[in-house]
Amino acid sequence: MAKQEDQFKKVLSHAKEYGYVFQSSEIYDGLSAVYDYAQNGVELKKNIRDYWWKAMVQMHENIVGIDASILMHPTTWKASGHVDAFNDPLIDNKDSKKRYRADVLIEDYCAKIEAKINKEVNKAAKRFGEAFNKEEFLATNGRVVGYQEKINTILSRMGASLEKEDLLDVKALIEELEIADPLTGSRNWTEVKQFNLMFGTKLGASADTAMDLYLRPETAQGIFVNFLNVQKTGRMKIPFGIAQTGKAFRNEIVARQFIFRMREFEQMEMQFFVKPGTQKDWYDQWKTTRLKWHLSLGMGAENYRFHDHDKLAHYADAAADIEFKFPFGFKELEGIHSRTDFDLKAHEEFSGKKLQYFDHEENKSYTPYVVETSIGLDRMFLAVFSNSLQEEALENGTSRTVLKLPPILAPYKAAILPLVKKDGLPEVARKIMDDLKWDFNVFYDEKDAVGKRYRRQDAAGTPFCITVDHQTLEDNSVTIRHRDTMEQKRVKIIELKELIHAEVAVKNWLQRM
Ligand code: GAP
Repeated sequence: MAKQEDQFKKVLSHAKEYGYVFQSSEIYDGLSAVYDYAQNGVELKKNIRDYWWKAMVQMHENIVGIDASILMHPTTWKASGHVDAFNDPLIDNKDSKKRYRADVLIEDYCAKIEAKINKEVNKAAKRFGEAFNKEEFLATNGRVVGYQEKINTILSRMGASLEKEDLLDVKALIEELEIADPLTGSRNWTEVKQFNLMFGTKLGASADTAMDLYLRPETAQGIFVNFLNVQKTGRMKIPFGIAQTGKAFRNEIVARQFIFRMREFEQMEMQFFVKPGTQKDWYDQWKTTRLKWHLSLGMGAENYRFHDHDKLAHYADAAADIEFKFPFGFKELEGIHSRTDFDLKAHEEFSGKKLQYFDHEENKSYTPYVVETSIGLDRMFLAVFSNSLQEEALENGTSRTVLKLPPILAPYKAAILPLVKKDGLPEVARKIMDDLKWDFNVFYDEKDAVGKRYRRQDAAGTPFCITVDHQTLEDNSVTIRHRDTMEQKRVKIIELKELIHAEVAVKNWLQRM
């Protein structure tokens, strides 16, 4: 646990030190759970968004994109169920006056039991060495099975109570488990209450005519209300998808874990409209496709797992999360939801406008079913960033900090470094830079010794360093150094473009899917 916390602290400080993420309004002591992306962060974020857009929109003939507004007619949120059901169960501690999400307190309690399971697994793995079979151990070790049963019992009771809105039982569970305020240890709790997560705002200048609005808590509704516009103007035939990326806002109570849970965040969502009755097949297909997209980035298959939901949202007939192993454990990264015809039917009812599709093959109209894939861009950023940050021991007894970002996502693809600031080397380096910048985002650095500059680029995540030295003046060759292997190779300037391209071309990455 302490090791995980240390690693997470390193992620936070590295993100700040290397210009990836800053606390919002830091000079005013920041705003809780609101963050700004800095000069490198904005590039990484854009590259993740582009990688998603390429895979989801441009590689599918039957998926198109839109960019809907953040502000929507308030009836949207009545129809979608968010006004009535987008709530979190909250509990206050009477002594510390701190507010918590009741379900998160219980989940954290279970995470501690899970940590005990992991400890047993690690101990056994050490004891049995090569012969260790993790699956078998998890299924047969008495202590571990007991721990797992305890987790299952707690979570299923919590799920059932939340489903029934039985908040008294949620409180009873907290009391039975003797869960204490994590900050003070006090067990003096209030009742559990529901709290709506939408941010309200007003449209219009005068107090009596102003209209109450909400900042959208998900981008999906902008797609549902535009379903027929896109279908008709794009002459889309079912099955087809509409995708978008954009900001969403939630007044999260337990806002913590850096950019994992923010109050203002960005989603990348795709709604796939299908014939009723085929949704289960599409749901399975999108689960597979989305996992493949993640795996294409090469961040380790062992770091992902599916979590199928027992407790379904009001709109879903099936739902699963793709969970990722963050520094604080496996947590939701992306959701895949079979949303039935709930949203289109609800908007039809509340707007009085027909939102149906005429199927020429079947010669009839129907309300399509929807399978949604929904990933938080900031969460994906944290997954990539935390997974890439490594402290590496070197052969000479020293160590280096290296940010092994997948090159396709790295903010800068190469740094151009003249060995010294004289003898015409900066001029040649600038010429290389001026040529490469048409194709790649590249960085120029001539300050400090070259070894120090290599380390800076390793820590910033730049996959290649290109060094211009005196030999360059004679034979137009440079040294290209690979971030991950630290291997250096002498190549001709003219070869650089192709070498870098081979490592960062989107085609080469997406074809691993
Ligand atoms: N349209 C469905 C929907 O919004 P969700 O599970 O509430 O479903 C989808 O959110 C994804 O959005 C999550 O898997 C997560 O990656 C991201 N997300 C949700 N709340 C977030 C928050 N407060 N901060 C950052 N990302 C968040």
